[in-house]
Amino acid sequence: MSRFSKESVIAVIGAGAMGAGIAQVAASAGHQVLLFDAVEGAAEQGIVNTAKGLSRLVERERMTKQDADALVSRIQAVSSIEDLAPANLVIEAIVERLDIKQQVCRQLEEICSASTIIATNTSSISITAIASSLQRPQNLVGMHFFNPAPIMKLVEVISGLETDPQVATDIYNLSISWAKLPVHAKSTPGFIVNRVARSFYGEGLRINQEGATDFVTIDTLLRECGGFRMGPFELMDLIGQDVNYAVSCSVFEAFYHDQRFLPSLIQKELVDAGHLGRKSGKGFYDYSQSSEKGNITKIPSTVDLSSCPAAITVKGRLGIAEPLISLIEEKGIIVKRECEDDDEGMIKVGEAILMLTNGQFTTQRAAESYQPNLISFDLALDYQKASRIALAPSDGASKEAVKAASGLFQLIGKAVSIIDDIPGMVVMRTVCALANEGFDAVNQNVCNEAAVDIAMKGGVNYPFGPIEWANALGLNYTLAVIDNLMAVYGEDRYRASPLLRRKVAEKVLMAKGYSEQKGVC
Ligand code: NAI
Repeated sequence: MSRFSKESVIAVIGAGAMGAGIAQVAASAGHQVLLFDAVEGAAEQGIVNTAKGLSRLVERERMTKQDADALVSRIQAVSSIEDLAPANLVIEAIVERLDIKQQVCRQLEEICSASTIIATNTSSISITAIASSLQRPQNLVGMHFFNPAPIMKLVEVISGLETDPQVATDIYNLSISWAKLPVHAKSTPGFIVNRVARSFYGEGLRINQEGATDFVTIDTLLRECGGFRMGPFELMDLIGQDVNYAVSCSVFEAFYHDQRFLPSLIQKELVDAGHLGRKSGKGFYDYSQSSEKGNITKIPSTVDLSSCPAAITVKGRLGIAEPLISLIEEKGIIVKRECEDDDEGMIKVGEAILMLTNGQFTTQRAAESYQPNLISFDLALDYQKASRIALAPSDGASKEAVKAASGLFQLIGKAVSIIDDIPGMVVMRTVCALANEGFDAVNQNVCNEAAVDIAMKGGVNYPFGPIEWANALGLNYTLAVIDNLMAVYGEDRYRASPLLRRKVAEKVLMAKGYSEQKGVC
């Protein structure tokens, strides 16, 4: 039996961006909600803002006026923290400072009953640290909503060292009854989303820092080829470079300077310059022309149209990129297949040899296989739907080879961005880094694999869970990309997760067992 029901009174402290949204979520599920803020009038203003937001839904006929009014009437602004005494659950969404959160939670313990649960919406502070000042640390749990709380589905339910498991379970179930997608996580730096997502920003920044291509092209590739709603640079501009950089620094510090989470110097430069993103009128993009989108439509690097030979040869299996072949055939190109059992597939088009990037420099792969005209292509979320692809030619590739390769992708409707030869290119390296970090979070008992995928899709709208994506790519391929990145850079950023390595070995073992069993039969 859960300790919460519709009759449970929910209190929210802090009526800012998050608190007001959380109050709306609880009221929408039918609870009476008490809303308190230290600043006089802020709770009332929070309710006014909620009512305004709901009236827009009424205008769009997505909610009736009656339901909107009823929802708002369930939220009551209170003027003193003592008024929160009847609450069964208090969710704090106040300023992100450990000392203040500890002090407010202690005060709540005095005011509310011994059975009241205190949930904190902190995005970066240890739940264990907040609980350490309490008489009943077992009743404190993290309940991490994402912005905007009424829209984003994810709630990370975070257990500190002392959190009663039943409290975490009850908050998890309550979140489900609030139409949210909860996941359990252990209190560790960045929890799930803010830990795994560091790779999304980190890889984009790193690719840009190494001059492989400009930030507009990286954003465009991650959107049009990777299926992400926003690229890392436009997203960092939206979040605020200062806020994003501070989170990166806090995760880095909290992990005792593990180089895996090393913050970016080019982001620090922006912060130092006061180029904080949309809010300051300039970040990576320039918003000074004051259109909502700024110059976000800046043109990505795209090659001119080329022609393509009438026939190609496909050697071996292309794995996740196999759907490309039917697209090519549909365009009337003759496709000759060779050595169909080879694992390392390639497409020969004119002088060019196209291969899915494997995390090596194309030039390195070309040198090892004596194929100067090797050109790597990037990972796509869906090769049929992707409207753009990146190519990274080896340093030895001829102009004709690059033209033939570009022409082939253009023929099947893809815009082509040629980037400099960088290991793992853009989408592949980002996705493999995300998956590697997801596996590492699981390896360190932060959460389970399903939670990583739910968290990244529900909290930051990723098109595919990083672990699902690694499975679709092949765990052995994902590991090979990470190991190749490690071989090139020699940095802990690309240290493969032990769990990923173990899973690959397990798959090999199972495949061997299967073939041996087949042999016996
Ligand atoms: P905010 O600055 O918009 O709102 C905080 C509110 O808390 C303000 O209205 C302030 O007057 C009030 N407040 C501060 N100290 C107080 C106290 N001692 N007692 C009562 N009220 C107090 O901040 P925001 O963005 O809503 O963040 C709140 C919490 O949620 C922080 O812990 C933050 O890390 C976390 N969070 C923020 C997200 C975001 O995207 N903004 C996402 C997820 C979590």
